[in-house]
Amino acid sequence: MSADSLPATARRPHHIPPLSNFWYFGLNGASLKPGKMQHITLMGQSVLLGRTNEGKVFAMRNLCPHRSTPLHHGQFDGKEVQCHYHGWRFAADGRCTAIPALCDEQARFGERVRNKTYPCCEGQGVIWVFMGDKAEDDLPDLPLLPGIGDAKPQIYCQVTYPLNAEHTAYTFFDPAHVAFVHSSPFIHRKSHNIRAKVKEFAPVPFGWCMKRHTAPRENMFYRLFGKNVTTEITYLLPGTRIEHIAGDKHWLISVATVSPISDEETIVHQSTYWSFPWMSPAKGLLRYLIKHFLTEDREYAAKQREGLAFQQPFISMGDADAQIQWFQRLRQAWLQSGSGHQPFVNPLVEETLRFNS
Ligand code: FES
Ligand SMILES: [Fe+2]
Repeated sequence: MSADSLPATARRPHHIPPLSNFWYFGLNGASLKPGKMQHITLMGQSVLLGRTNEGKVFAMRNLCPHRSTPLHHGQFDGKEVQCHYHGWRFAADGRCTAIPALCDEQARFGERVRNKTYPCCEGQGVIWVFMGDKAEDDLPDLPLLPGIGDAKPQIYCQVTYPLNAEHTAYTFFDPAHVAFVHSSPFIHRKSHNIRAKVKEFAPVPFGWCMKRHTAPRENMFYRLFGKNVTTEITYLLPGTRIEHIAGDKHWLISVATVSPISDEETIVHQSTYWSFPWMSPAKGLLRYLIKHFLTEDREYAAKQREGLAFQQPFISMGDADAQIQWFQRLRQAWLQSGSGHQPFVNPLVEETLRFNS
């Protein structure tokens, strides 16, 4: 069988479409003021996000149903979006409320028009958009962090990777790359400093976690949290890493999550929450460090992308690549569940991994 006669997906092993029926990070809530709208591209769809004058967020297709003019070129009065081209108006629920060019009895034709909307909710400072085909009354809960109420991120930043969501998410749980890719931003030298590590993992709903363990006391950073400092890292579908550090005085949660723009481009949104009341002056520096770290991954992602174009299959080797395989198994299990229409069964079990990193 020649390569040309293979089905398209077999010829493109690295073409991995994003997972549907998940809440995806749309925008950092603070960036969308009342009466404003912004557009994003999520899973190949142009989505208009808006916040009404009352503060409620909504998401609708960014293409006017009339002749596809992107609605973000139009006006938003805090209540309705008006298309720039012929002035059709849409309420936040997608109803067409006016077609200015129609008169007399034709003016009511608009009642039949509805722009597509997406489930959209705000929580913990994030505007989430649900991408999938689930009914409104069957949506999963928002992916909120337990135990922090409606805290907002102290630091937020984003970086766009030239990879699909799957390969972008691999950077979250790939211990082997850290010494080769990441450096201190002040000396710009890769550490190549590799140590043997033993880590214990356990499955959690929709993912796995590196079990809570004691943070190294010799690291000055952890001393900020008080005594008995522990850390736990959780990895979840569709591509989220949550690191939770807690001591007897303070806690910090760092969340990185993927938002697929298309099958070949993904935004990583990074939000950091903490309980330190005196850390605000350091926000600028910390944001710079986080952005530096993500940008290093993006640089290597761009190099990897050059090779992915040739469609060579991957090799996974030993415990260092085990988590990549876990993620692939979770993905398969999600697809087998009909993307969540049937019960999802997590195929992972408790495991101890040994690797150098
Ligand atoms: S294209 Fe939007 S009103 Fe005509
Ligand atoms: Fe990295």
